[in-house]
Amino acid sequence: MSVQNSSSLRDRIASLKRERNAVILAHYYTTPEVQAVADFLGDSLALSVEAQQVEAEVILFAGVHFMAETAKVLCPDKRVLIPCPEAGCSLADSCPAEEFAAFKAKYPGHRVVSYVNTSVGVKALTDVCCTSSNALKVVESIPSDVPVLFGPDRNLGSYIRKMTGRENMVLWDGACHVHEEFSLERLLELRRQHPAAKVVVHPECRDYIVAVADYVGSTAGILAYCGRSEAREFIVVTEAGILSEMRRRYPDKLFIPAPPDDETCGCNNCKYMKMVTLENIAAALENLAPEIVLDEATRQAAERSIRNMIAIR
Ligand code: 13P
Ligand code: SF4
Repeated sequence: MSVQNSSSLRDRIASLKRERNAVILAHYYTTPEVQAVADFLGDSLALSVEAQQVEAEVILFAGVHFMAETAKVLCPDKRVLIPCPEAGCSLADSCPAEEFAAFKAKYPGHRVVSYVNTSVGVKALTDVCCTSSNALKVVESIPSDVPVLFGPDRNLGSYIRKMTGRENMVLWDGACHVHEEFSLERLLELRRQHPAAKVVVHPECRDYIVAVADYVGSTAGILAYCGRSEAREFIVVTEAGILSEMRRRYPDKLFIPAPPDDETCGCNNCKYMKMVTLENIAAALENLAPEIVLDEATRQAAERSIRNMIAIR
């Protein structure tokens, strides 16, 4: 897109936001142009918290489908727009609600904890949701003699199991296609080239990647760590969209993206997050569609598990 086109689209979005009384919430993995038009930029926990505080009539969610659904669960009376409804999530897709219900039925008496990267149907089957920001606190809030069923991310689940030393935790076998692709060999090579760099890792990565991290945390946690650390260089092992916010906040520091196994695949970019564009944001504000619509009984059941998550921060 030419610079002129992009600036006229930004102007168009700004005036549509005023006309429609809309706010744009965006995740750190969206493109820099999309992040630049957001009223609020955050990780998935902060975005959920922000959604419930929005006063505008319309929320446009610049992120993937489950994030917009979460906003609608929390704000049923608002119009929640999703500029690209096809923007799914491989992790959420790895856990269909009917299969999760059958899995849950095998473990009576277990407290069900679901990562927020799930459909509203899975959230409705959940006692308490979590994000990578508060997963540890959520699991620690459950008495140690109560068994836990954790889904859908096996990597986050095994990280939490290790951190809590909890044996009574059953994991759903799901994963994110982006975070599972990082190459240990290439990461170690990069660390040899930058011996002073700190390695920052999202807990959706495989355990052998997490094992070499200096810091493990959510996107917001990683950003905060890079700010407070005295290090000047960081090897970033999460989706590459976060790099623009890192460089904007800390222009004097060097951020080096960790490579996936196959460097030509571009798979440290979440193709779903990149489906959100200035064009489809402008079109969604113009048409007040596509909109998230939920079944009310499912919404109410999901709301309980999301509110339980927000209470533990
Ligand atoms: P955060 O909760 O860290 O924002 O991560 C969301 C996500 O989709 C990770 O892949
Ligand atoms: Fe889902 Fe992975 Fe994309 Fe996050 S990076 S939205 S977990 S597919």
